[in-house]
Amino acid sequence: MIRPVDVLLEFLQAEHARGVTHVHLDEGARLGLRGLLNRVKTGKAPPPVTELEQTTELVLETVPAPAVLTIEGSTRSEQLASLRRQAETWHPAKALGTLRETMVFATGNPEARILLVGEAPGYQEEREGEPFVGPAGQKLNDILKAMGIDRAEVYISNIVKFRPATPRQTTNNRKPSPEEMAACLPFVRAEIDIVKPACVIALGGTAAEGLLGLAGTVTAMRGAWHDLDGTPVRVTYHPSYLLQSGDANNVKRQVWEDMLAVMEKLALPISARQRGFFLPKA
Ligand code: URA
Repeated sequence: MIRPVDVLLEFLQAEHARGVTHVHLDEGARLGLRGLLNRVKTGKAPPPVTELEQTTELVLETVPAPAVLTIEGSTRSEQLASLRRQAETWHPAKALGTLRETMVFATGNPEARILLVGEAPGYQEEREGEPFVGPAGQKLNDILKAMGIDRAEVYISNIVKFRPATPRQTTNNRKPSPEEMAACLPFVRAEIDIVKPACVIALGGTAAEGLLGLAGTVTAMRGAWHDLDGTPVRVTYHPSYLLQSGDANNVKRQVWEDMLAVMEKLALPISARQRGFFLPKA
């Protein structure tokens, strides 16, 4: 006989396998689980099957329908459009209550060889409905230009699709929390599956943490290729860090070395002049 608890376990394992780390439990579900846990802790004999079934049925009934992303359409553009529609009302993100209303989806070329991932939209991005259009976005455009790449050629995304909210928010932005990233992670994972880029660039430590589950400093994460289910990922400093560091040449050079590694990976032409960008003057 298949017990409700087995169905619950199977559902949770499937969610975990696709990268979901949190499920919402309301008070009824929590009570049901607590009851089961107490029985284990107190060593009381397991309840008769009928009673166990009643308890676990309570859990199953009160866990909301799982939020599952479905990818519709046959072309990459259609598939990305289907993701965009689902992002608008994505329950796991909305249920947190810590993100703003406006959804800012990714932008760019569905056939891109390079897919860039930031953390979350900020003030300017929310106003314009496009990622990386504020000062950090201008810096990103400059980096791409130095690589000989037009912004329209690449795909630009964020882990979190809504601007993180703060009390009495005006133009100030904050980094997304691990919960906010976990709630939106299925989107960027699906975008990578659809676009199939030759490589991903994670912009900053927060994006790297959300995407790769890494902890630590960008300094420790950069300088090597990481693997995301077969897609190579390069971590570099966030463009806003370049702005904060006053465009210091040593930071510029480190970002540039990461971009040279990407260009090499993609067998893009690199001139002698490009190789020497931001090197200290001899
Ligand atoms: N910073 C990000 O990480 N993403 C944006 O879209 C803008 C700024």
